[in-house]
Amino acid sequence: MDRFDIRGGTRLAGRLSVKGSKNAALPLLAATLLTDEPVTFRHVPDLADIRNMLRLLGELGCQVDSSPATDTDSPGGSVRLHVTDPTVSHARYEIVRTMRASISALGPMLAKRGYARISLPGGCSIGERPVDLHLRGLQALGADITLDSGDIIARVPKAHGKAGRLRGARIFLGGPFGSTVLGTANVMCAAALAEGTTVIESAACEPEVVDVANLLIAMGARITGAGSPRITIHGVERLRGADHTVIPDRIEAGTYMCAALITNGDITLDNCPADALMAHMDRLTHAGGHFETDDKKDPMRTTVRCQGAGTRGIQPIEVTTQPHPGFPTDLQAQLMAVLTLADGNSVITERIFTERFLHVAELSRMGANLFRQGPTVIVSGVRRLVGAPVMASDLRASACLVLAGLAAEGTTVVNRVYHLDRGYERMEDRLRALGANIERVNEKEPAISA
Ligand code: EPZ
Repeated sequence: MDRFDIRGGTRLAGRLSVKGSKNAALPLLAATLLTDEPVTFRHVPDLADIRNMLRLLGELGCQVDSSPATDTDSPGGSVRLHVTDPTVSHARYEIVRTMRASISALGPMLAKRGYARISLPGGCSIGERPVDLHLRGLQALGADITLDSGDIIARVPKAHGKAGRLRGARIFLGGPFGSTVLGTANVMCAAALAEGTTVIESAACEPEVVDVANLLIAMGARITGAGSPRITIHGVERLRGADHTVIPDRIEAGTYMCAALITNGDITLDNCPADALMAHMDRLTHAGGHFETDDKKDPMRTTVRCQGAGTRGIQPIEVTTQPHPGFPTDLQAQLMAVLTLADGNSVITERIFTERFLHVAELSRMGANLFRQGPTVIVSGVRRLVGAPVMASDLRASACLVLAGLAAEGTTVVNRVYHLDRGYERMEDRLRALGANIERVNEKEPAISA
């Protein structure tokens, strides 16, 4: 297992190109199961979660041909997927337990093959993560769903003894914490091959859902309204292959924006999905950051210069996570790292995953002054953070600790960075290119005492 050793205190400056989005790529790759023709994806990031999804799709009968990116600063490599053997439709626990997004295979496999068996994802370090809305949506389309030995078994009932088809329906996908991103993608994929029209009400509006809709449309699906809370899908009988470029990763971009703020740096991000980061940039601007966006470029792939707060220092703010276009839960931990150094008290409320606070205790070990009550954390700004050995068993919490380490005095040792590797490609190389003093060390070597 690897760790990062970070010597903090360097002001980061330079230029980065944002990688393709992990959270778009995962359901996009799974949507390949909807067609017998090859689908090519570009700008696919090289991440542990993506490799797991490709392994799963291989087990489900997809031929996988990957071409890694030749240039390290490019948004990602390309992957060609082609279903050549649809006989195995079982996503086993061994894979699902490493990656919850395996659930994205459920809707496509059910709609195309009439049968899918997927291990039920268990608990997760960011809290309870049920899949009831996914199942409710697929049941509304006519699927029979049962549970057996920890697996979800979904079937399309036969019609007159022959293979049947899902049926379009009006479906409400809202839950106690808003809509569901992967649930909306799952139901939309299944409805694309259903008979008749489906209307998803309270659909997730996240840009990753729009990207999946755009792929499906390129494959021949008839979909309108993606990106709004009502998506309408007129089912078609078959979908064809396509060539699709994955959107840039808004969470990776937002994390490097936080790096600019916490180190009082100056980072220019190319291929930046500024249009999907309005709430984040609004909050960081209130915290003292400065952003210049190139208005002549596509707002989903533009150039943004991000600068820290200068001599004024980081200002305290209030922030509440919400479904898109609100402030994303996936940037809450990173923003908390920034606010630990603000000049006053900030208030952070987590409304999507109310237990997603693994970073709180670890930040406190670095000298942050945090008080949590339920889903809210009061962040009382301190003048300095002090390096310490830390660890968090969640991707974004780990990113938060790296950010804190970049600003802390002395050395921070972030242990078990395989959590980070799930969602950030070569983070240490990218930070080092911006001037950070950060090394990846194999954990067998003794840790630097901090
Ligand atoms: C996606 O997870 C992302 N994962 C998460 O990214 C992200 O935090 C989350 O959306 C919210 O934006 C991927 O895209 C691979 P949800 P997803 O279903 O779709 C509740 C990261 O760090 N809910 O939108 O699984 C749920 O408990 C991560 O990259 C139900 O109640 O999340 C939560 O409170 C981790 N029933 C809320 O809805 C359901 O059936 C939103 O979850 C499904 C969800």
